[in-house]
Amino acid sequence: MEPLVVTQLLALISLTWALDNGLLKTPPMGWMAWERFRCNTDCTNDPQNCISENLFRDMADRMAEDGWKELGFEYVIMDDCWMSRQRDGQGKLQADPARFPGGIAKLARYIHDRGLKLGIYADMGTATCMGFPGTTLDKIEIDAQTFASWGVDYLKFDGCNSSPVEQMQGYPLMSKALNATGRPMAYSCSWPAYLGGLPPNVNYTLLGDICHLWRNYNDIQDSWDSLQGIIDWFSNNQDNLQPAAGPGRWNDPDMLIIGNFGLSLDQARSQMALWAVMAAPLIMSNDLRSLDNRARAVLQNRVAIAINQDPLGVQGRRLLQEKSRIEVYWRPLAHYASALVFLSRRTDMPYLYHTSLAKLQYPAGNYEAYDVFTEAVVTGLNATTELTLSINPSGAVMWYVYQQADALHYHQRKTSSQSSFHKAKQGHHSVL
Ligand code: GLA
Repeated sequence: MEPLVVTQLLALISLTWALDNGLLKTPPMGWMAWERFRCNTDCTNDPQNCISENLFRDMADRMAEDGWKELGFEYVIMDDCWMSRQRDGQGKLQADPARFPGGIAKLARYIHDRGLKLGIYADMGTATCMGFPGTTLDKIEIDAQTFASWGVDYLKFDGCNSSPVEQMQGYPLMSKALNATGRPMAYSCSWPAYLGGLPPNVNYTLLGDICHLWRNYNDIQDSWDSLQGIIDWFSNNQDNLQPAAGPGRWNDPDMLIIGNFGLSLDQARSQMALWAVMAAPLIMSNDLRSLDNRARAVLQNRVAIAINQDPLGVQGRRLLQEKSRIEVYWRPLAHYASALVFLSRRTDMPYLYHTSLAKLQYPAGNYEAYDVFTEAVVTGLNATTELTLSINPSGAVMWYVYQQADALHYHQRKTSSQSSFHKAKQGHHSVL
């Protein structure tokens, strides 16, 4: 694809990651330690991979030097197991002195110096999920102050080892305490995940008022099965979840596992496509030091990212579940554009799926579509044009669909020579 074409397409989609107009007006992007590095504290035997200041510095270096930052990946987020087993003499949390000899404030400076932001982890309860010091109600203010004094930019507030009654007090209290520090900090709440994720147990209006994002459901694991379970749960419950999302308030189906051990290339594309239409945080948990190029290309797909970061901030929905085990997801975007994801839950071979934009509830009009992974452009579409898409097993096709008039220049530059696309003379039958 020619660079100019990409530029024009991105201009259409709006490059909101370049703007800084309030906290998490678009879903956060970054990297988080948990799924890939867990609670590995064995720096003696595994110095490269243990939870330590070196690991976060390494990831910050990669994010700053390998093009991630320019794409909008900005948060480097620590998870559980960074703490010392004891609070200090003044009752403050402190980092494990052997694994973080420089302390968190110094690590924050290192990360800020590279134009990135630091996220940290704490737990509303008597102990973190892995048994490190928790933040009980009486410790909320002091912990918020400590994080602010260190220069933290993002707090993941987990909910192990507390009761629903304590959580009902603690999560709003931490929101207030963070605000009271005067330091802008993004606030990620695991609260709903501890209450089953659904109303009436979860009040999504309140959550949106106090948290920027929240974990609704189970932890992602490094497998396609885990990913499918998450997609199913979010889609089956979309009537409750989808309206809760918007600028500054996001559902969080958990980390991107692309680049690890559990996903094929097609499955990696499926996760990227689905996370983009779900307006999900794009927070990777992988080893940026040894990422293979195919995973990198999926994660650095600029159009997928732009769809995720669309300024309208409307979460997408599952439109259809076909008997053929093809599912169609849709997200409305700025400039009357939209994204479609065609996901195959099949396990046999590429499936030829027949549809039209009209069948997917598009109104009459002239459209073009850009295939986000193959970079093919489908021109001359109207709502009734018959389409045939080939979707790999456990793979996805993602389209960015826009109105033809909006892409005049773009359209004029392209000829009908798109190799992976042709339109039959009579039947208006498009094949990708
Ligand atoms: C919980 C969270 C995970 C991770 C672990 C850490 O399981 O959901 O994302 O933070 O705790 O112990």
